[in-house]
Amino acid sequence: MGRRTNMALAVLLVTAVISGLASQAIGVDWPLDTAVIHGAVALAILLLSPWKTPIVQRGLKKKRPGRVFSLALLTVVLITLASGLLHAHGEISRIGPLTVMQIHVGGAVLALGLAIDHFRRHPVTPRHFDVDRRAFLRTSALSAAAAGIWLAWEGTLQALEAPGTERRFTGMHESGSHDPEALPTTSWLDDSVPTIDAGEWTAVVAGRNLTLADLEAMPQDTFPAILDCTGGWYSEQEWTGVRFDRLIDPVGNRSFVAWSATGYARRFPIADLESTWLVTRLGGEPLSPGHGFPARIVAPARRGFWWVKWVTRIEPSPVPWWLQSPFPLS
Ligand code: HEM
Repeated sequence: MGRRTNMALAVLLVTAVISGLASQAIGVDWPLDTAVIHGAVALAILLLSPWKTPIVQRGLKKKRPGRVFSLALLTVVLITLASGLLHAHGEISRIGPLTVMQIHVGGAVLALGLAIDHFRRHPVTPRHFDVDRRAFLRTSALSAAAAGIWLAWEGTLQALEAPGTERRFTGMHESGSHDPEALPTTSWLDDSVPTIDAGEWTAVVAGRNLTLADLEAMPQDTFPAILDCTGGWYSEQEWTGVRFDRLIDPVGNRSFVAWSATGYARRFPIADLESTWLVTRLGGEPLSPGHGFPARIVAPARRGFWWVKWVTRIEPSPVPWWLQSPFPLS
């Protein structure tokens, strides 16, 4: 029984990480709801605690040298579970300088590292009878129980009238929509707001040097779009800018890369030329430094980390867009 519990926990942990990453990567409302799968899989870890507790107690009595790492893994998984539930509830969005979602993702990354070390020190070898009829029934029972505990959790949020009942399909909470002053300002990892002189600034777009005046003289679109940040919130605002199909010729290219003054960059599929803008205004006013002045990307069907701020260069390229890390590394 212990071996099967450990195997099930390993599978659940890996599935929780994969579905969590998918929830944070996907910006369109697909039929496959990765945030729901994530919640159910993560809560199933709790369901296995009555079987895991005696294994932990036996292990601790043996006083093995790696014990401290196993205890660290347990602690970090509990912090990750608790911060996931706290985020979903929605009443508390920050603890100190970090959003609850940042704590959650940080905890999960740490848990993954500790789990790899844990399974290396305590290998679980699958056996042929792990894939028999009884295993199928056990897996079905665990899946049904996971769906049940997820429904019970969502029901509890409804009964408590928690702010989390209103969260988007990505799991994020609404913040400051239609009020540019209230739009939160965040940057990816170590990026910080650069000082840019509007008079000196130019963006090199497909080899052409464009000033702010050049950009604002081009045909503009004003439209609402949702900025859905992986930090835990989303916000609908009105943006004004130039759609990329007026700036870049798709012929002979498979992607285009947007560079920020900070060195941050994202590579977009060439098909995104028709659904991505280089914007200079938010709510009719020039962008503030924190929101990307003088120009930033608005990519409505993509998560916030694609909305490159402080753009200085846009380059069409023959390289496919997926030749990059799914999440920026710095
Ligand atoms: C050790 C692995 C993980 C565990 C145990 C875990 C646990 C949880 C739990 C219990 C929730 C609340 C579920 C709900 O309310 O439906 C949650 C939500 C969430 N987690 Fe994780 N998580 C893990 C890894 C990750 C990773 C790696 C990411 C992304 C990089 C992530 C992103 C999210 C997101 C976006 C939500 C919000 C979903 C929603 O509110 O519907 N998680 N997590």
